[in-house]
Amino acid sequence: MLLDANTSLSEALKDFAAVILTGGSSGIGKSFIKLIEKVQPTLVICNLSRRSPDMFSVELKLRHVPCDFSQEGEILQGVESILSILNREVPEGRVLLINNSGYGSFGRFLEADLSNELGIIDVNIRAMVELTGRLLPTLKARGGAIINIASTAAFQPTPLLATYGASKAFVLHWSLALREELKSSGVHVLAVCPGPTSTGFGSRAGVKSGSVPGGVGHGPDDVAKISLRALAARRAVVVCGWKNRILATFSSLLPKTWTSALALRLIGRVQSAKDNA
Ligand SMILES: NC(=O)c1ccc[n+]([C@@H]2O[C@H](COP(=O)([O-])OP(=O)(O)OC[C@H]3O[C@@H](n4cnc5c(N)ncnc54)[C@H](OP(=O)(O)O)[C@@H]3O)[C@@H](O)[C@H]2O)c1
Repeated sequence: MLLDANTSLSEALKDFAAVILTGGSSGIGKSFIKLIEKVQPTLVICNLSRRSPDMFSVELKLRHVPCDFSQEGEILQGVESILSILNREVPEGRVLLINNSGYGSFGRFLEADLSNELGIIDVNIRAMVELTGRLLPTLKARGGAIINIASTAAFQPTPLLATYGASKAFVLHWSLALREELKSSGVHVLAVCPGPTSTGFGSRAGVKSGSVPGGVGHGPDDVAKISLRALAARRAVVVCGWKNRILATFSSLLPKTWTSALALRLIGRVQSAKDNA
């Protein structure tokens, strides 16, 4: 089904009282905060990340809960803080949970910093599962929805980004499975698969800036808008951008050994082109 471009963004948010977001301090998460403030300024937004989002306005009902997902025990503390904010400020009404925090690391696994690779699993997978598990009873009781930010990396193995790509395959498959389980519960689950997006993600991952092949990249504001439109349309998955949708469809149909070999050539070539530039 094609996205209805006219699906109103406010339609997506009109029934919610609060949003719980991870990774609002930069990139796509920050774009979610800006968009929600514009479309539905009455919503209370609880953000979990290490840094506070540097956004100030009189209208913005942003509550920052500092939390490092790579540190054991911090998520539990973060959830307790969020639940007390909700009980105090918005005791009723539907809640939208956006699991967005994540990072990747470019390079061969053999040469990688192992603790950084394990951190990818903690932040991209473990935090999403723990937060969702701890907040789901509240979402179910009040009504709610979950948006999980996956990636087009979810559709095939990604050599040189091996742990990252596999973590996003987890996010996609877990979201789809959860959606089926929760179908009659009043909690809708959506997986969003952005292609390369112009945020701080690439430089943190060690990917050279400007190394994205033409036409598959987009901005973080686009990703936030596409996500909310897909939520309003009750989609299960949305891949951002028509070129990425075609690539994801082909990747899903071909044997994984083929797409893995193709991905190694593509990712390696893009990076070495930048190295030689
Ligand atoms: N940019 C892309 O090309 C792209 C493509 C597809 C999917 N995505 C996905 O989109 C999501 C957002 O990424 P982005 O592109 O917006 O990158 P970004 O600008 O680097 O934002 C990443 C966010 O994750 C948070 N985060 C990282 N480590 C964390 C930790 N240990 N604990 C808590 N929060 C942590 C960061 O907050 P703090 O540093 O303040 O903790 C930051 O707000 C990620 O899941 C990413 O995998 C990105």
